[in-house]
Amino acid sequence: MSQDSLKIAAAAKALEFVRHGMKLGLGTGSTAEAFLDLLAPRVRAGLEVDCVATSERTALKARGLGIPLGELDALTPLDITIDGADEADRALNLIKGAGAALLREKIVAQSSRAMIVIADETKLVAQLGKFPLPVEVIPFGRGATAARIAEAAARLGYADLEVVQRMKDGAAVKTDSGNLVYDCAFGAIKDAAALAAALSGIAGVVEHGLFIGIATRLVIAHPGEVEVIPANP
Ligand code: A5P
Repeated sequence: MSQDSLKIAAAAKALEFVRHGMKLGLGTGSTAEAFLDLLAPRVRAGLEVDCVATSERTALKARGLGIPLGELDALTPLDITIDGADEADRALNLIKGAGAALLREKIVAQSSRAMIVIADETKLVAQLGKFPLPVEVIPFGRGATAARIAEAAARLGYADLEVVQRMKDGAAVKTDSGNLVYDCAFGAIKDAAALAAALSGIAGVVEHGLFIGIATRLVIAHPGEVEVIPANP
C-alpha cells in the first residue's frame, strides 16, 4: 500500500467516530486533508457538522469542498478534533507543526472533548524527537529567543542543540499568526513533559509542537490493518 493509501485508510477509520450534529476541529496537513475529502461527500449526503479549521490552508480546502466552517469562540467546546501528526508515541504524545499550524492546532485541540490523531505507520515512534521539534517564536528578538531555547535545552541535557529558523524559497516561513518557526533537532526526547515546560517558560516562544496529554486516540494505518490506540478507551 502506498503512503497515501494508508493516510486515506486512517482518515476513513476516524470518520467512523463522527456523528450527526457534531462540532469538529479540522487539522492541517495531507492526512487531515484526506479526512476532508472523505467528510465532504458525507456532508453533501446530509451529515450535519459544524467545523473549525486549524489553518488558513485547511479553511480554504474545507470551503472548496462545501464543509461548513465557523468560529472557535462560537462553537467551543468541540466534540472531536481530527488531525495528523509528525510523530506519535503509544502514550499518545505527539510532535506537530511541520505545516507551521501548531499554535492553532493546539488551541483547537485543547478546546475539544477528544482529539483523534490520524497517521500512516511511519509516524508511530518508540521515542519522540527524531523529527525536529517545531517551535513558534515571536519575530521580536527572535535570535535571542533561539539562544534561550538552546540554553534551556542544554540545562535539560541536550547539548549543542541545533535551533534552525525555517525558511522557504529564501524567505522566513511565517505562521498564520505572523510568527516564525524554529526547528529543533533533539534526536531523542527523554522527558517530553519537562521539555514542554521549559520551552513554555521562554517569553518569546509562542508555542511548541509537543502535544502532551492532549490526544485521546491514535488511528494508525498499517498495510492491511488500521490500529486504534487505545483499542478500548
Ligand atoms: C501541521 O502543522 C502539522 O502538525 C501536521 O499535522 C503534520 O505535519 C502532519 O502532516 P501530514 O499528514 O501531511 O504528514
